[in-house]
Amino acid sequence: MSIDRLQSHYGFTRMPFGRDIPPQALHPHPGHREAIARIQWCVSQHQTGVLTGEVGAGKTVAIRAALAGLEPSRHQMVYIPDPTITMRGIYTRIVTALGGSPAFYSGVLASQTASLLAGELDERSRLPVIVIDEAHLLEVKELEALRMLTSADMDTGSHFALLLVGQPTLRRRLKLAVLSALDQRISTRFQINGMGPKDTAEYIHSHLSYAGRTDPLFSEDAITTIHDGARGYPRAINNLAISALIASFATGKAIVDQSAAQSAITENSD
Ligand SMILES: Nc1ncnc2c1ncn2[C@@H]1O[C@H](COP(=O)(O)OP(=O)(O)OP(=O)(O)O)[C@@H](O)[C@H]1O
Ligand SMILES: [Mg+2]
Repeated sequence: MSIDRLQSHYGFTRMPFGRDIPPQALHPHPGHREAIARIQWCVSQHQTGVLTGEVGAGKTVAIRAALAGLEPSRHQMVYIPDPTITMRGIYTRIVTALGGSPAFYSGVLASQTASLLAGELDERSRLPVIVIDEAHLLEVKELEALRMLTSADMDTGSHFALLLVGQPTLRRRLKLAVLSALDQRISTRFQINGMGPKDTAEYIHSHLSYAGRTDPLFSEDAITTIHDGARGYPRAINNLAISALIASFATGKAIVDQSAAQSAITENSD
């Protein structure tokens, strides 16, 4: 099967349900909108916030969309996609983003990070915005180190925003007794849940229209089947929708019906 033939069969100008959607083309379901509002509030207040959600709930796209809305000359983003780079790696990223050269000794590096973070806003009028994605992978000692950064900052009033983004286990981890000091500093927490059935339908339509199809392509019962199979989670919806498109292309149908959706579910559950 070729993607080109599938695309022309359905009259797509590009493949739907892909990963690289510009922020303005994202489907603004309520969970997505609220996540963005909370992230932006957290940034404007120089606070620490936590955004959680199951795998594929739309955390990373929400962060991207929220950060895309910030004035670049007044913010210094430090986006850390994978915290398994260790605390040294995290400090190094921050120091480098703020124009420093990372100190060799870990103890020095930690205080260098804290002082660069504290100075950026006063000296260059730019607010550092540190985003740690997949933060559920952080170990307790790394969360402790982040707490130290925020408390060093607190002494003089907060000079940066910190966003921890990850799977729901992150919330539970932060409740550990050893992390209560960090937990208390978190001013906003939000969980992106799966979408409701109506939003799943709108979500599918918005991906299709981004791909150049505005007329109905999925039958209503196909959408219901996909919604239930994906529990309203965007990435799972994408996977099922693509499989259903392929299944229906293979049988030469013009509309993606319930049987195509069902075969997508069977295929994805193997
Ligand atoms: N609001 C949205 N509008 C359009 N597409 C979306 C939206 N939210 C999520 N998606 C789609 O779902 C995919 C998964 O979203 P994302 O990568 O943000 O999930 P995640 O919560 O960060 O998952 P993980 O836990 O695996 O990191 C994206 O690649 C995108 O295609
Ligand atoms: Mg993600």
